Amino acid sequence: MSTASFALSLTLDGRRRTEQVDPRMTLVEALRECFDATGPKVGCRTGDCGACTVELGTRAVKSCLELAVACEDAEVTTIEGLAGGDDLTPIQQALWDEHGVQCGFCVSGMVFAARELLRRVPDPDEAQIRHAIGGNLCRCTGYEKIVVAVKTAAAAGEG
Ligand code: FES
Ligand code: FES
Repeated sequence: MSTASFALSLTLDGRRRTEQVDPRMTLVEALRECFDATGPKVGCRTGDCGACTVELGTRAVKSCLELAVACEDAEVTTIEGLAGGDDLTPIQQALWDEHGVQCGFCVSGMVFAARELLRRVPDPDEAQIRHAIGGNLCRCTGYEKIVVAVKTAAAAGEG
């Protein structure tokens, strides 16, 4: 039995793109399998780990919970599209400088959660940072260095 496909158009990391997707795909599946955007990772598929996080417009979303076809004409930013070449954003640079990344599996979730927080709260306290990144699991760092990195990014003007 053949599977119907859908021509999904979106702006991905600043470029207008159209690819055929299976209408049953989640956004993370479509990004990885049809758009070759492998920055968002597949972890739990249930919205619990944050590894699949992207920005939809200015919102950090877990792309395993979004149906791809519902993102027609959306502006999607992945972790790979965030930096301009070697120029990292303040939160990316802070995670690097503060040793807040080890394997990198959680980095999309941490970066986009931090960006969303810092847009709303330019100078957050530790409790606000921990709450904001709370939907993202990191198996490596113990979170302390990520919290420090978010404070550093705030001081560097990420918001
Ligand atoms: S794969 Fe989406 S939150 Fe875990
Ligand atoms: S750095 Fe490995 S899961 Fe966070």
